[in-house]
Amino acid sequence: MRCLISRAEIASAVNRLASAITRDYRGENPILLGILKGSFIFLADLVRQLDFPLELEFIHLASYGAGRQTSGRVEVVQGLRAPLGGRHVLVVEDIIDSGVTMAFLLECLEKESPASLRLCALLDKPSRRKTSLAIDYLGLTVPDECLVGYGLDCNERYRNLPDICVLEENR
Ligand code: IMP
Ligand code: MG
Repeated sequence: MRCLISRAEIASAVNRLASAITRDYRGENPILLGILKGSFIFLADLVRQLDFPLELEFIHLASYGAGRQTSGRVEVVQGLRAPLGGRHVLVVEDIIDSGVTMAFLLECLEKESPASLRLCALLDKPSRRKTSLAIDYLGLTVPDECLVGYGLDCNERYRNLPDICVLEENR
């Protein structure tokens, strides 16, 4: 395990994102829609930097199965409960990899006729993209490696690490 992004670097990325989101959403009472499980720590840190009225919702999606590669199928483990019609919706995701999960989700959410729909992702792994996807608020671009920590898992482990680390291949 090797540290790729330290907790201090994460904090400054989160601060930068919070400033941009504050500039664009203050006074709009947006819905921040967290994608479980991976975004739980990022979202918790982010919203505590947002000093204006907002609401929080969550969707639990799974696409990885037990392996390291995306399965290509997206499973909705827990769907949306709140209506999004006419609301400003900001989706908050941990990492965009192939983009399959997010493309699927954004397509579903568009059907709810939100007033606006944008995407905030802490990490982007652009080398593995299979769909075109605009990330409106991006923290950091990362290489194609298996990352864990700060909410990210490998087979449900390591989400609790405070830094973002590279899980080296088993030898
Ligand atoms: P995508 O559909 O390939 O873009 O996969 C996105 C999802 O896979 C994200 O929501 C993450 O939860 C997960 N994911 C992608 N890359 C990693 C990684 O390096 N570590 C842990 N989870 C990852
Ligand atoms: Mg995720």
